[in-house]
Amino acid sequence: MGWSVYVTRRLPEAGLRMLRRACSQVAVYEGDGAVPQAELLRAVRGRDGLLCLLSDRVDAGVMDAAGAGLKGIAICAVGYDNVDVAAATARGIPVSNTPGVLTETTADLAWALMLAAARRIPESDRLVRSGRWRGWDPLQMLGVDVYGKTLGVVGAGRIGSAVARRATGFGMEVLYFDQQGRPELERTCAARRVSLEELLRESDFVSLHVPLTPQTRHLIGLRELGMMKETAVLVNTSRGPVVDEAALVEALRSGRIFGAGLDVYENEPALAPGLGEFQNVVLAPHIGSASVATRSKMAQMAAGDLLAMLAGRRPASCVNPEVFGPA
Ligand code: DGY
Repeated sequence: MGWSVYVTRRLPEAGLRMLRRACSQVAVYEGDGAVPQAELLRAVRGRDGLLCLLSDRVDAGVMDAAGAGLKGIAICAVGYDNVDVAAATARGIPVSNTPGVLTETTADLAWALMLAAARRIPESDRLVRSGRWRGWDPLQMLGVDVYGKTLGVVGAGRIGSAVARRATGFGMEVLYFDQQGRPELERTCAARRVSLEELLRESDFVSLHVPLTPQTRHLIGLRELGMMKETAVLVNTSRGPVVDEAALVEALRSGRIFGAGLDVYENEPALAPGLGEFQNVVLAPHIGSASVATRSKMAQMAAGDLLAMLAGRRPASCVNPEVFGPA
């Protein structure tokens, strides 16, 4: 079709294949890690489409560097805080993301972190590997129970609800904090909608599932951590800046909470000073959606959406549908 697109990282082949079949030029950044901003600004010039990742900062400068021919920006992620959507809308550029396909995989990871932190799995693994384990000990690696406890879900959209659904198998009471009521969740999990403060005070496990917006930045700070039970575990698979990481370090240092399971960080890939030193914190490298099948589906969805936008059609998931005019 004569389209030229830029892809900011190597993706699962299924997605790249779709692009190669339909476009005359598919340039992929082949370096390690995120594409440097200067390289992005250079490589995007004259492209019809951009397929980017959450680690790329796609601002007005990038859009202007691409030029007037840019027909769409596809993000291979559900979160789109890395793209200046207002700037895209102002330029009439549609932006797509990949919700739905990664819901269950990300919910699985939230649970993996919850269980790992509660039962001190990484710490136990380190002990066994170190050769310092001296055999069964009635006081060794004592954790906190999960079964029958209270789960607090902050943000009960697709992923938050999927996390909550899993709690029924663990006989848990489910509390949720959300802008809107979720009748389906209340019906299927007997979940109760409460204020953030009540959720923090009552929950044994607090799992975060809000998008990153100006309103949710540092939603969990020192004050909120101070409301949590001393035996509670905080899990974050949403976006790092939702938690004030320096405050979390302080809370962990003073033993304010039992532990944490983190998949996302304020300044990825850097950690706040001290965060890496706690034994009671499980750290994952932003792998919420990282299963073979899900990453392939995400790449295919992003590619399919980019092709739709190149053809002037509305993508399956558009975060600024107003650019297409009234539905
Ligand atoms: C997303 O999609 O937003 C996740 O953080 C990455 O899979």
